[in-house]
Amino acid sequence: MRRALLTLPFALLLLLFLDQPSHYFPLPATTTTSSTTGSSSDGGLSSFFRPARPISGHAHLHSPTVQSFWRLLRDELFRLTPAVDPIHQPDDGKVTGEDQAPENLDNHPRPSLIYLDEITKTTLRTSHDAMLKFARGQASSELPFQVRTRGIVTTAGGSYFGMVVVSLRMLRSTGSKLPVTVFLDTHKDYDPLVCGEVLPDLNAECVVLSDLLDTAPPSTPLLRYQYKVFAILFSPFQEVLFLDADAFPAHNPDQLFDTQPYKSTGLVTWPDFWVSTASPLIFDITRVKAPPLAARKSSEAGILLYDKARHATDLLMALYYNFFGPDLYYPLLAQGAAGEGDKDTFLHAATVIGAEWYDVKSPVTVMGRWLNDTWHSFGMKQADPAEEWNINETSKLDPGKTLNDLHQSTLKTARPFFIHNNIVKFDIERILEPGSALFDINEAGHLQRVWGPQQDVIQDFGYDVEQVLWTELIVTACQLMTMRDCRRMKDLAAGVLAVP
Ligand SMILES: *[C@@H]1O[C@H](CO)[C@@H](O)[C@H](O)[C@H]1NC(C)=O
Ligand SMILES: *[C@@H]1O[C@H](CO)[C@@H](O)[C@H](O)[C@H]1NC(C)=O
Repeated sequence: MRRALLTLPFALLLLLFLDQPSHYFPLPATTTTSSTTGSSSDGGLSSFFRPARPISGHAHLHSPTVQSFWRLLRDELFRLTPAVDPIHQPDDGKVTGEDQAPENLDNHPRPSLIYLDEITKTTLRTSHDAMLKFARGQASSELPFQVRTRGIVTTAGGSYFGMVVVSLRMLRSTGSKLPVTVFLDTHKDYDPLVCGEVLPDLNAECVVLSDLLDTAPPSTPLLRYQYKVFAILFSPFQEVLFLDADAFPAHNPDQLFDTQPYKSTGLVTWPDFWVSTASPLIFDITRVKAPPLAARKSSEAGILLYDKARHATDLLMALYYNFFGPDLYYPLLAQGAAGEGDKDTFLHAATVIGAEWYDVKSPVTVMGRWLNDTWHSFGMKQADPAEEWNINETSKLDPGKTLNDLHQSTLKTARPFFIHNNIVKFDIERILEPGSALFDINEAGHLQRVWGPQQDVIQDFGYDVEQVLWTELIVTACQLMTMRDCRRMKDLAAGVLAVP
């Protein structure tokens, strides 16, 4: 990117100018009176009024309220750090494919590969009990956010930065108007051109999380997976659609906040391909009954809908599981299965709190293409929760039915709504490098569409979302890359779209 030409002092100067009250969208009063009955920063009547001074994500992060809340949290996490050794997978134990996708869900036992002695279990339980008390107490009512605001939040630190512009353009192409906060890990990720010019034009704003964390540094530095919960917690919005940097909707997501199942639950999660591979120990330590394996898939967590007013307590528990994730809770929740990381921390937190939430039942499906008789995966599709809700309402599925029954029934699944390019990433900085899958040619010597034949894409999404993707890739390349790369992207797009 041209970013190399711009110097650090200039970047810092631009950052000062970002502190402007711009990205604020008040909600219509009628839709929120029922959804803010939970805890909110003001509580009571005042929560129905607009904040006196609408502020940006940057100003929110730099406000004394947010900084003192973080200091409170940091001190509590430090105080509750369990004095135990990091949990390792046993050398001889491994979660198998059968554990992740058992033939018969109902009879399959939970894999149990981690052993902890009684002292360790007691130490973990004591710390967890204390965190639960803290999260249920004052902390949840003091979680700072701008009451009655909605927005989209993403994390784009490090190598994820190159994807976020394409994802944002795809988001805007659906007609979405909600403001976007892009969380960067540190100032090293801050690109003056993208953060200063490109994103503001897309009603998006870069926010640097280390600005907050450095005011009260955590005991250990954070890793990539841990950033997500921080981004949700410390974004300015009350209601958040979280998207991984490589995920975007194919339809306007703004109305998801006004429809079921979000309206009645305030938390919606999307499924992974696999079932839970959590160790039985996690339920013992956190004192909840293990749900049947068939109850739901493990969660994918690249896409989440949260109302922080209704879910402050479980979000704080999710922070705890992520803060102690790499050493303790990630292994306990996944035991080394595919995608070990933050993915099940949000669902587990909601389970422990007994919070209401909705997990999308329509299975995640793969996105990709056949090329030379071989399947190439690019990413995945996640379903429309509102349509799924309506299908269930009209088909009157028995209340007792589980995910397993749903798969076996003839029930229609909802249309795909989100695209998550977790395999071949549309990273504008790398996409034109030699060896990029986009340049693959088929037996006929032609370039090929990445998401399959046009008619199938239209059937899935109602329009040719791949055509839009190429349009946005061209705009992005021509804005951020060299003239030569701009021309190469145009040629590539023309070649790919030449064959329907
Ligand atoms: C379908 O709706 C019923 C009744 O509203 C509810 O109890 C049930 O859990 C729903 N099923 C799914 C799969 O959402
Ligand atoms: C597909 O087959 C053609 C012809 O055999 C070959 O030139 C091309 O490299 C193959 N593509 C991939 C991605 O393997």
